[in-house]
Parts: sequence; C-alpha cells; structure tokens
Amino acid sequence: MVNISPLLSVRHLLALSLVLNVSLMLSVILERAKLEERLNLHPMKPKQINISPLNGDREVADNGEAILNLDHGDPTMYEKYWHRMGDRTTVVISGWQFTSYFSDPKNLCWFLEPELAEEIIRLHKMVGNAITNGYHIVVGTGSSQLFQAVLYALSSDTTEPVSVVSAAPYYSSYPMITDCLKSGLYKWEGDAWSFDKDGPYIELITSPNNPDGFIRQSVVNRSGGILVHDFAYYWPQYTPITAPADHNLMLFTISKTTGHAGMRIGWALVKDEIVAKKMVKYIELNTIGVSKDSQLRAAKILRVISDGSGLAHRFDGETFFGFSHRIMELRWDLLREAVNKSRIFSLPNFTPEFCNYWGRVFQPLPAFAWLKCKDGIEDCETLLRGHKILTRSGRYFGVSPSFVRISMLTRDQTFNLFVQRLSRIHSWNEER
Ligand SMILES: Cc1ncc(COP(=O)(O)O)c(C=O)c1O
Repeated sequence: MVNISPLLSVRHLLALSLVLNVSLMLSVILERAKLEERLNLHPMKPKQINISPLNGDREVADNGEAILNLDHGDPTMYEKYWHRMGDRTTVVISGWQFTSYFSDPKNLCWFLEPELAEEIIRLHKMVGNAITNGYHIVVGTGSSQLFQAVLYALSSDTTEPVSVVSAAPYYSSYPMITDCLKSGLYKWEGDAWSFDKDGPYIELITSPNNPDGFIRQSVVNRSGGILVHDFAYYWPQYTPITAPADHNLMLFTISKTTGHAGMRIGWALVKDEIVAKKMVKYIELNTIGVSKDSQLRAAKILRVISDGSGLAHRFDGETFFGFSHRIMELRWDLLREAVNKSRIFSLPNFTPEFCNYWGRVFQPLPAFAWLKCKDGIEDCETLLRGHKILTRSGRYFGVSPSFVRISMLTRDQTFNLFVQRLSRIHSWNEER
C-alpha cells in the first residue's frame, strides 16, 4: 500500500490534480489564441479596432545594450495600423491568375494594372496633393526604378552626358544610383546650389526634402534644365498639403505613402507623352514590367485608405492618415522634448502652414529628423554610434558630418528607446 501522509489526504490530491489540469488547459488555450493571433486566423472586426498611436511601452527600461538602427528609412511604424486592419487588406491570388506579362495592352504603360491606376487617381483626388488629369501614369518597381527610367528618358537623345544635380542636403541615393553604371548618358554633378556648368541638366527636387523635411523649389533657374519632382513625402501625415502639385514629372512611392516598402511599387505622373513612352521602354528593357501581384496588393491598400478616409471620416483618428498624422505629431513632440533635455543637439524649425486636407494649420512632421550636433562636435554619427544609435552622416547628403539623418518611421519600441537615450546624452566625452 502507498503510504499517504495524513497531511496529504486523497481529497487534497484530487483537488491538486484538478488545479493542475485546469491550469494546463488554460495555458493550451492561451497558446492557441496567441498562435491564431500570429497567423491572423480571426481578423478583428471593424468595431473592435482601437488604435492607440503609441504603445504603452513609452517607458521601456533601457539598459543601453540594444542597438537602435535608425539609419534606413524603413517605414515599419505603419505595421501596427495594417495589422489591426486584419483581413480588410488581404488579397488572394490563385495560381492560374495574372500569369501574362501584359496588363493593359492598349495603355501607353502596358504593364500598369487598371485597378491600380484607378486607385492612384482616386487617392490623389481625395488628398488633393497632385493633379492627375492630363498625365500618363507609369508604374515602377519602387520609385527607385522610376528614377532610373527618368534619367534614361531625359538623356537618351543628347550627345554629351546630361548633368544631374540636386540641392544639398540631397537624398543620399541620387548620386549612387546616377553613377552606378558609369553611363555615358548622364552624370552626377552634385549640389545644385553651386552648379554652374553649361549644357543640359536634370534637377531633382525632393519636396518635402529627404533628409531635412523642408519644402523645396528649383534652385538652378536657367534654361536647358529639366525638373524632376520627387514627392515621396508629399502626404498629409508628413506635411501640410497646400496645393495640388502639377509639375511635368512627379514621382511617388507606396513605400512612404502607406508604409509598404516591401511591395516595391512606385508611380510617376508624366505630362509629356514621349518622355512617358521612353520611361516605359526603360522598364520594359530592365524588368519587362512590374509585378502584377504587387500592383494588385497596392491597389487594395490604396482602396482601403480611400474608402475609409472620405469626407465623412477624414477627422476620425482611426483612418489611415488620421492615425499616421497623430503618431507623427506625438513622435515629433517626444523628439523635441529629448533634444531640449540633452542640450547638445538641435533640430530644424518649420513654418506652420494651412493644410487643405486637414483644414487646419500645422507644422511639418518629416519622416526623417535632421539632427545637428552643437558645441563643436564634428562627427555626430560617431557620437551617436557610441551610444548604439545608428544614423546616417550628413556627408552622404553632401553636407557636414555634424548633421545626421534619423528615421522617424521605425517601430514604437525602437523610437521610444531612442528618445530616452538621446535625452541623456549631454556631451561628447561622457561615458557611453
Ligand atoms: C525621396 C525618396 N525618393 C525615393 C525613394 C525610394 O522609394 P522606393 O522605395 O519606392 O524605391 C525614397 C526612399 O527612401 C526617398 O526617400
């Protein structure tokens, strides 16, 4: 016979086994729920969505060990919004669908999915940031491919290499993309402010500008030049929409509009038919079109944004632009607070402007912070790297290394750790 201690009766054992079984069952149910959430088996219904712009992890404890990578402009901040949209943006494509190279053979841009074209026009009309009437839409594998198509289209008929310039601080990829193939058609000539070479030129105007967030105009101002406007950030979460843009050649990207950088979709609005045809030719030679799967996903995302952001819902914090604008406001407030505490950094000051989309005045909330180290600190990137904060030095943007560019579009936790850590840096020499 088993010798049961008088302290542990059969009743006690039965109760204990019941408690153990219940807790086992509960942990199985919890694990299953977590798995279902991860696999998104039960997407949230509209009424359950409650989007708070920042997680409750504002005060995450920082032991200074985590590496905070704010070098790339990877827009992971938006994941949270799309996660909570659940199945509303799901696209299902069967194996037999969309197998052809062609999307719309009668269109100048024969690889542009009509659904995407429709949603691009609809979104621009709703936001009021660009005129689409009278423009050809050329879709590209990101706006990076369109930039290359533009260079080809604007230089293929010239006898000497066309100079490519942009006012410093300029987007760090422009020089690298322009010169990577050592093309005889075009050549990077650097800062537009100091450009004085004769001959044809292309001026790239990024507005709002990457890296500093300012609204820009052409600076060269002489004949023989072609202007290309990169409007990656001309959206109402980042800057007041003051008028619909109507320049000859305008570039947009889904990466910074909705946060879907991995889809690799961008579009150009092109007035001149010959230029548009040459851009299409370049993309035909380069990649024989643009992924249809990505175009259809992009169309769905844009449709969900437009459906949810009509006049009746515009000011609702749960719309895409409402959410994104609020999160940018909060992040810029937190960053300015941290910079004031640290005292050795400074940020640009922007003039508030009236935004036609929001119907109110606000100060630009750029996707990048253009941080300057003061007190004679010459290498801001190295200073911050010492604190395990990775940024991109001003020298990649054609200016002094006392500046760095910092992505404002990272995930909550990284951003919150970053502002906490930044606020504690008071000098170059302090222990890191
Ligand atoms: C000004 C500007 N243009 C173009 C791009 C590239 O966009 P895409 O991801 O569509 O190639 C970026 C990305 O950071 C950008 O900042």
